[in-house]
Amino acid sequence: MTHQVRAVVARGKGAPVSLETIIVPDPGPGEALVKIQACGVCHTDLHYREGGINDDFPFLLGHEAAGVVESVGEGVTDVAPGDFVILNWRAVCGQCRACLRGRPWYCFNTHNAKQKMTLTDGTELSPALGIGAFAEKTLVAAGQCTKVDPAASAAAAGLLGCGVMAGIGAAINTGNVGRGDTVAVIGCGGVGDAAVAGSNLAGAAKIIAVDIDDHKLDTARKLGATHTVNAKNADPVAAIRELTGGFGADVVIEAVGRPETYQQAFYARDLAGTVVLVGVPTPEMKLELPLLDVFGRGGALKSSWYGDCLPSRDFPMLIDLYQQGRLDLDAFVTETIALDEVEKAFERMHSGDVLRSVVVL
Ligand code: APR
Ligand code: ZN
Ligand code: ZN
Repeated sequence: MTHQVRAVVARGKGAPVSLETIIVPDPGPGEALVKIQACGVCHTDLHYREGGINDDFPFLLGHEAAGVVESVGEGVTDVAPGDFVILNWRAVCGQCRACLRGRPWYCFNTHNAKQKMTLTDGTELSPALGIGAFAEKTLVAAGQCTKVDPAASAAAAGLLGCGVMAGIGAAINTGNVGRGDTVAVIGCGGVGDAAVAGSNLAGAAKIIAVDIDDHKLDTARKLGATHTVNAKNADPVAAIRELTGGFGADVVIEAVGRPETYQQAFYARDLAGTVVLVGVPTPEMKLELPLLDVFGRGGALKSSWYGDCLPSRDFPMLIDLYQQGRLDLDAFVTETIALDEVEKAFERMHSGDVLRSVVVL
């Protein structure tokens, strides 16, 4: 059997997305058909539609999603019809060196659904990040589904599937923020704010939020920032040093993805501190640092891949914290929109006052 559903498709490089009818097959072995309830709009969706990822148009966009499993294919035992799940875009193999060493976020032997979703004329769709969840239903590998508490709001839960997990994970997994640490977060969009929230959960003593927009800094405060620095009015490196007794922060999280802000992160950290790059740079960007300064400072320079998360460990834990009122995922949902408003959400992304627009179905 197949399912005809409405979905958001990017047909060609730079062209506005359109709402289309697509054909979704029943799940084959190892696959799951998921009825999508909510899906956040992420920068990566826009990168796909602009042709910045690859040329495999048409794309089925959307990858920050939560929904209910409608049916599963042969051999699927971890999830069952009726389960409320968050989708993840790393269906790891479980058998390669990275997986066996407990670092599946470095697994490149990923297994997405094998069957193709198509347009009504039979044209095969490329699901963005192997998900394609701006759709009433989508087909994924069962390993991309993590069961969580069904009482959680779908709009909030879905955000853990990408940007919010990346930010929280940059703090708690990659940066290993611990009780009493000083943390600085440079760039407080959805990802940076999530790093602020993650640092707060981890018990950081000081959380210094840096942005160039005062509204963003206000939200960062609500999520746990103890100090804020507007980088338009003050040198963030000097400000972070001053706020940390001259030492610099134990962990500095860069959530912009630019060489200038990475340099600031590099110099704003304690000599034994950690820099975590979670902002995504573009291919032409280059970093220039005196090698002597790299030598002269200890600590660690790290980057965070999908928040170095283990979905089966981290998603249910973070949903529990959300349900207990200890992690304000709702604060990331700036607006809820309909499926046909994704293009408008892309435009609003640049306005600076949206953390996340979330499609609710
Ligand atoms: N100093 C401090 N903050 C800055 C600077 C700067 N020089 N330039 C931009 N910012 C802030 C913006 O004001 C914004 O609040 O960085 C934030 C970036 O946030 P978003 O654009 O909302 O992006 P976000 O979704 O948080 O993702 C952050 O990770 O996924 C990638 O492509 C994404 O590189 C981006 C990064
Ligand atoms: Zn994303
Ligand atoms: Zn693997």
